Amino acid sequence: MCGIIGCTGVKNASAVLYKGLLDLEYRGYDSAGMAVLCDGGIVTVKKKGRVCALSAAAEELRGTSGIGHTRWATHGIPSDENAHPHTAGKFSVVHNGIIENYAELKEELVSQGCSFSSHTDSEVVVHLLNRCYSGDFKDAVLHTVRRLRGSFALCILCADSDGFAAVKYRNPIIVGKGGGALFAASDMPALSGLAESVAVLKDGQIAFASHGEMDLCDFSGEAQALTFSPVPAAVRAAGLCGFPHYMIKEINEIPAAVKNTVHAFLEERCFERVTRAAKKRGFGNIFLCGCGTAYHAALAAAYSAEELLGIPARAETAGEFRGRKSAVGRSTLFVAVSQSGETADTVEAARTAKQRGAYVLAVTNVPYSALTSVADCVVPVRAGTEVCVAATKSYCGQVAALSLVVSALKGRAECRRTLSELQEVCSKCASAISGFSAEAAARACASSSGVYFIGRGIDYPVALEGSLKLKEVSYVPGEGYPSGELKHGTLALIDGGTLAVAVMTDIRSGEKTASAVEQIYSRGGRVAVICSPGCAPRGIAERAEFYAELPECGGMLSPIISVIPLQLIAYRTAVMLGRDPDKPRNLAKSVTVE
Ligand code: AGP
Repeated sequence: MCGIIGCTGVKNASAVLYKGLLDLEYRGYDSAGMAVLCDGGIVTVKKKGRVCALSAAAEELRGTSGIGHTRWATHGIPSDENAHPHTAGKFSVVHNGIIENYAELKEELVSQGCSFSSHTDSEVVVHLLNRCYSGDFKDAVLHTVRRLRGSFALCILCADSDGFAAVKYRNPIIVGKGGGALFAASDMPALSGLAESVAVLKDGQIAFASHGEMDLCDFSGEAQALTFSPVPAAVRAAGLCGFPHYMIKEINEIPAAVKNTVHAFLEERCFERVTRAAKKRGFGNIFLCGCGTAYHAALAAAYSAEELLGIPARAETAGEFRGRKSAVGRSTLFVAVSQSGETADTVEAARTAKQRGAYVLAVTNVPYSALTSVADCVVPVRAGTEVCVAATKSYCGQVAALSLVVSALKGRAECRRTLSELQEVCSKCASAISGFSAEAAARACASSSGVYFIGRGIDYPVALEGSLKLKEVSYVPGEGYPSGELKHGTLALIDGGTLAVAVMTDIRSGEKTASAVEQIYSRGGRVAVICSPGCAPRGIAERAEFYAELPECGGMLSPIISVIPLQLIAYRTAVMLGRDPDKPRNLAKSVTVE
């Protein structure tokens, strides 16, 4: 959801910004730009399209300080004009977030004679800065940020200053220093290789970087302490390592993601922390929230929690949770699930739950994220940096971490059992990845007018995830459905052009899903079956267009394994159809606006 970067004191600012923007491109890739301080003025280049569209123009820029941006459009279509930075008068600005009061500010600025050159909300910031400027950069920034409502991470250049300012409010900013240079960026991986040490800014802080020094203050201008620590080794992204795309590389990293998540659970004494909280609060119900893939992991955990613990457990998408009054109070365990830890809907849902008295537990892949600062307790997912916009290994890490939380709530013996089952799951994942050829299923998906993923019980969240993955990376339409629900309406869509993918890992519900499959066959539909050994009743597999048997799996850990063929099918279908699976159209990896 937009990546921003700033640097000062480097030899060649445009080269540093260009490299940083490539690292941040997962956050948005419809346009990009940079501005560099050059002989007392600001030179800006910006273009619709990916960061690489900037390469020739960026090479021409000479300067030691600059700011850069890669965009995911919210206000205004992807175009050269709407690309950041927005430059006017003495200032240039890049922005991640939404200025919610932009319309009233714009009206005021226009009435004062400002002329706007874009349709973005962000452009108001640069005009406000010019209006507030009377020769003091810090003063102009302070006056400007106090007028803004919404969420904003900003990097700002002023032609009269040699450095930049970085502002944080509800969107992330990490600052860094190294080799006499100073940096700011939306995330840590963009700073690795540039900065030797980093600091995560808090909401309401502004860093001013100039002449090798970084000063921090709050929105009232009061100075604050800034403590840097070394860049954690884990954030250094390793590149493609010979794989053609990050999606397939990251699917291959699932066994390591699960193994490292188990280690982290033990290392960070999560059993002790979770059970201590349970003892103190006496949880009477569990609420789980997340968005997209993280919601699907939450839904699987809700099924397991209710079954194992016998207390009400429900999962909801984070955006829906916030909008209504739900039964959340002091005896609620609220579990917020997010790979990035910065999805605005999820972070705000966690804040809301906390305000209502719930105990907030975060399950996240990013230890320094906004979500971790809201949570009472963090249970880490250690999947490593996930670059592909489509979540794969982080989902499996989330299911592993959530299963450990649920079993910890049941007791030490149950938690031990889950820990030992997870060891086996790692090797089963590896054989599910290497032993599955997705070609035939991908061909069937690529030629279908719609693909319906069906499952029952614990297989239903997996069906939802399989469907999301296919839509997201291949653009083939479809839906995830509880298998029992098809006959209540969606069956009307089934014909020879559609494909149904049935997920069956549970012997108890396999027969029910098999009835849905029979109904599809009877209406001329095509079927693919993904099942655990012995879960597909006789006569189902033989007639399937595509049939794959998973390694033995069942119960709450089964989604870790059963999702793998669905991820591989989505990946192969995307490649077959000539899509870029790592950067699907219209999307961004981190959605930091509500
Ligand atoms: C997954 O493939 C998607 N890109 C998306 O649904 C994602 O899971 C969702 O936006 C939540 O992100 P988070 O886990 O970082 O909060």
